[in-house]
Amino acid sequence: MSTTETGHAQQDSYEPSEEFVAQANAGKELFDAADADRDAFWAEQANRLHWHEPFTQVLDWSDAPVAKWFVGGKLNVAYNCVDRHVLDGHGDQVAIHWEGDPGDSRDLTYNDLLAEVSRAANTFTDLGLEAGDRVAIYMPMVPEAIIAMLACARLGLTHSVVFAGFSPTALRSRVDDAEARLVITTDGQWRRGKSAPLKEAVDEALYANGDVPHSVEHVLVVRRTEIEIPWTEGRDLWWHDTVAKASPEHACTAFDAEHPLFILYTSGTTGKPKGIIHTTGGYLTQTAYTHHYVFDHKPGKDVYWCTADIGWVTGHSYIVYGPLANRATQVVYEGTPNSPDEHRHWNIVEKYKVSIYYTAPTLVRTFMKWGHTIPGAHDLSSIRLLGSVGEPINPEAWRWYRKYIGADKAPIVDTWWQTETGAIMMSPLPGVTATKPGAAMGPLPGISAKVVDENGKDVTRGDTEANGYLVLDQPWPSMLRGIWGDSERYKATYWEKYAEQGWYFAGDGAKIDTDGAYWVLGRVDDVMNVSGHRISTAEVESALVGHRKVAEAAVVGATDDTTGQGIVAFVILKGSAGEVDSDALVKELKAEVAREISPIARPREIHVVPELPKTRSGKIMRRLLRDVAEGRELGDTSTLVDPSVFEAIRASK
Ligand code: WTA
Repeated sequence: MSTTETGHAQQDSYEPSEEFVAQANAGKELFDAADADRDAFWAEQANRLHWHEPFTQVLDWSDAPVAKWFVGGKLNVAYNCVDRHVLDGHGDQVAIHWEGDPGDSRDLTYNDLLAEVSRAANTFTDLGLEAGDRVAIYMPMVPEAIIAMLACARLGLTHSVVFAGFSPTALRSRVDDAEARLVITTDGQWRRGKSAPLKEAVDEALYANGDVPHSVEHVLVVRRTEIEIPWTEGRDLWWHDTVAKASPEHACTAFDAEHPLFILYTSGTTGKPKGIIHTTGGYLTQTAYTHHYVFDHKPGKDVYWCTADIGWVTGHSYIVYGPLANRATQVVYEGTPNSPDEHRHWNIVEKYKVSIYYTAPTLVRTFMKWGHTIPGAHDLSSIRLLGSVGEPINPEAWRWYRKYIGADKAPIVDTWWQTETGAIMMSPLPGVTATKPGAAMGPLPGISAKVVDENGKDVTRGDTEANGYLVLDQPWPSMLRGIWGDSERYKATYWEKYAEQGWYFAGDGAKIDTDGAYWVLGRVDDVMNVSGHRISTAEVESALVGHRKVAEAAVVGATDDTTGQGIVAFVILKGSAGEVDSDALVKELKAEVAREISPIARPREIHVVPELPKTRSGKIMRRLLRDVAEGRELGDTSTLVDPSVFEAIRASK
């Protein structure tokens, strides 16, 4: 994003309408309450939940950087998301309007959800699983995926959801790292009206590496596409033979506020994904709090739709835990926005009268490309609030989103947060904040963030030239509690840069304008953001050098009009590679990365080059490669061993 777009306070600004303010969940007093007494404020938010045993202390930060929130409290996440709504007399309210890819649909009420979650919990118990055990969930967006997550939560089993677009290799490394005892999957998955195998990938993962011993005892399979699947007698079980036949009654027990709720793997700056750990009380408190106030959600009235996948943190926090804790009625959808055609989302909005719609900037830009006449052909008047997440939203897309989807009046909440933060940290409050297109505006009540320089000094407001880093200078309830099995990496990644000050380093660059609005500018580390998905350059490089013809690879994220960033790779071939047809090889390498990691990691471009630009210490200069990939004049090349390598690299483009 250019300086002129982000740097000026005279940007257009949108005040909330009087009509919206009058009915908003949050007013200015929310900020005042948090400022007056932070602990009391969070205690109040926590008490929106049901505690089987009340907590005795709000925050224990004595073991920093591992926080304990709501010390001594006990609760059950599934009870909070399901049972209590039924007990309060809302059992007949629809929890999930589910829309399948091939056009099938299904409604689940809170009564239905309670019965299904109880059945699954009884089955998991029969399989011998106990609180603290890990369960891997590798499923498309079917209701059973949500039921499985809630059943784990109900029993204190720690789930690890693995995006169903990930490869068998990626699944295996996650299963092994967490030592999962159970894997839950589907026979196949629908995509654009066609079925593709999924259980087969689980088998491939579990038999990988010559079937070295692994932790998995059972694979539980939901029938979705009815395709033929491989079967291992004794290990594999059908959901319809087990869960569907189990008792729909299950009495839950409560778990400690700090009991691990889930692990979610995300890309870091090295090739090995990090298993981010989230716990129970603080996580549920902040997801429920933010869902209620940021989305201005009214239980029993709104129809909420978050278009994310449960494989990512947005699906965990804003499809499963936050909305269900708040008794939402929501749309859950399996599919792609242009299948069967580009009207898919707007048909769904019309069908269910969606009032709150939460999506990613990359999709907004795609809608823009398809043209406004597509949403214009539908009655979208039910929409009263729009949300954005996953990457900075460019002002042009923001304005288009408001105008064509929000009828020029729906407030937009641009929500900044991360897998690590667990819940939204910065966002406008829709009934309070005047919004600027492209800005996440500022920390929510109860949250504290700063923009500082390399040395931790506050970056001056309005300074558009300074390199500011976003830091979180106070612990927050839904913060990660560590990286699974690697507490050193946890400290080194997030807490070392500003160790003296005790601040969390988010890995994002940011600026504050003269009005005090925060602008998040994107990653400052080797993490790319492609269509809102986090992918590390190292992961893609390691997939590329895994190919027998590749000697070395360097990967950068280059600006892309639709996907935010696109993956651009530069590879050097092995001397023994001989004469190669480089078009064919590039195709092969792209396919290799898609197979090794996931189709979402397929490089946009691969260039075969004779050399890579390196510093004297042998470090690849990604900054310069990014300049080349984006067609810019080269920055400072004085530290390069051999500046002439660029002639050759340019020639290969
Ligand atoms: C980026 C997704 C600007 C950011 C919830 C962050 C954003 C990373 C925004 C986390 C936003 C997310 N504005 N950038 N509103 N939201 N990001 O872990 O770079 O998949 O560090 O969590 O996405 O991605 P993650």
